[in-house]
Amino acid sequence: MTTQCNVVVLISGSGSNLQALIDSITQNGNPARIAAVISNRADAYGLTRAQNAGIATAVLDHKQFDGREAFDSALIEAIDAFDPQLVVLAGFMRILTPGFVNHYSGRLLNIHPSLLPKYKGLHTHQRALESGDSEHGCSVHFVTEELDGGPLVVQAVVPVLADDSAESLAQRVHGQEHLIYPLAVRWFAEGRLRLADQGAMLDNQVLPSSGHLIRT
Ligand code: GAR
Repeated sequence: MTTQCNVVVLISGSGSNLQALIDSITQNGNPARIAAVISNRADAYGLTRAQNAGIATAVLDHKQFDGREAFDSALIEAIDAFDPQLVVLAGFMRILTPGFVNHYSGRLLNIHPSLLPKYKGLHTHQRALESGDSEHGCSVHFVTEELDGGPLVVQAVVPVLADDSAESLAQRVHGQEHLIYPLAVRWFAEGRLRLADQGAMLDNQVLPSSGHLIRT
């Protein structure tokens, strides 16, 4: 039997990716277990989703702390109280300090709504449209000190349609986020995915620089 993998999920908002993770973990044989959901915003709807699923929650309001270092150390303390093997950023809209990122090196995943390395940062869907891209998508990656950098694990590619708005494109990308994040978390929980010196590895093979690619 595979050992259980404790996961702490960090959110700032709606938490639809969190919901996809919750739903996937009830599936047979998934060794991931969400031990807690932590938000930097008390009004994040994801907290309600967690509570509805019987998952412990905590709020750490970054505005109550004197700077990033102080917030991140308190966050580390709050997370580590749940003894996680994996920490998952699911719409956690904070820039993390190198101290935080290094503390969780190799066990910190993020999802980003673009085909990284394209469109790091915000407004990714609008930027893809303005650039006239024919394809857009989302990425799961190990977090390193570089913002929205770090070895890619999996990317889902969606076509950009002629009549797409930023909203319609965002919706299609979001749908794919809800598939690839549970997939990556399950791989990690099953011990199939890890970060090595050569990059992200799945089943002992170094993944390509784009990560595992899924086209819809
Ligand atoms: C998602 O689209 C996620 O990719 C994005 O925030 C959204 C959260 O949605 N994350 C980032 O932009 C991180 N750079 P959700 O709260 O419904 O899961």
